[in-house]
Amino acid sequence: MKEIDANQKAWALLAREHYETYSLALREGRHHLNSHILRELGDISGKKVLHLQCNTGADSVALARLGAQVTGVDLVQENIHYAGKMAAELGVEGIRFIWSDVLKLTDVHDESYDIVFTSEGVLGWLPELRDWGRVARRYLNEDGFLYVFDSHPFMMMFDETRLGQEEYLIKYPYFDHEADLEESIGGYAAKEHKGVEAWFWMHKVSDIVDAVSLNGMHLEYFHEFPENFWRSGGDMVYLPEEGLYVYPHNRDKYPMSYSFKATVYRR
Ligand SMILES: C[S@@+](CC[C@H](N)C(=O)[O-])C[C@H]1O[C@@H](n2cnc3c(N)ncnc32)[C@H](O)[C@@H]1O
Repeated sequence: MKEIDANQKAWALLAREHYETYSLALREGRHHLNSHILRELGDISGKKVLHLQCNTGADSVALARLGAQVTGVDLVQENIHYAGKMAAELGVEGIRFIWSDVLKLTDVHDESYDIVFTSEGVLGWLPELRDWGRVARRYLNEDGFLYVFDSHPFMMMFDETRLGQEEYLIKYPYFDHEADLEESIGGYAAKEHKGVEAWFWMHKVSDIVDAVSLNGMHLEYFHEFPENFWRSGGDMVYLPEEGLYVYPHNRDKYPMSYSFKATVYRR
């Protein structure tokens, strides 16, 4: 698919810088999973975790440091190279990485897991969620669960350059099925790279629920949060203990992120 190929090239441009940024942050103890994820995941020591869209492996390392056996998966070969290098350099054990499109993972990988985990900037890079849900379910043990933490589609509708000024201009319609083209990528853990093609899809809350329920899973909870995990412009305040950003004007107005946990459905 041409959009996925373009995304692969775009993300590859960031791989080395992401490796450098996250290696340093992990060494200095500055990188950890955000507080909602840590609280909701609970004790994962000894669990076998499949980490989808792992980028250069920073959160895979964080999961492994909680005692899990982690397999990270990413579309970009350069990310997988740097993820392996970083884990080795940090002396992290019980971690490995697979280069694959998440939607084609079943072609190359055949195991099962206690937890399928994906977080912070993930589902929008996928053209549709039904097949993604099928893949997630495929890798779960009968007692396993899928955990997702990502951008809330409500917040994703608005022009990101105006959100910080409390201006709510709908730039990405909620019901849009077409991919949006961005001509830049990065800017959070690497410098912004311009002149690329990066394709991103809007997925409604009902698409997310359907991806779970139509693939033999049961939603245990769906939580919504006013904090964001990236700096979306304006006067955002970083909460270091929580690993999240918040607008002072938005502690209770609208959701910026969500999480859910889904287990295997039993009749
Ligand atoms: C914002 S990053 C996610 C980072 C994540 N928070 C982490 O570090 O664990 C998005 C990642 O999705 C990956 N990606 C995009 N499309 C993908 C696909 N179809 N299959 C697998 N990975 C994909 C990109 O290569 C990129 O590394």
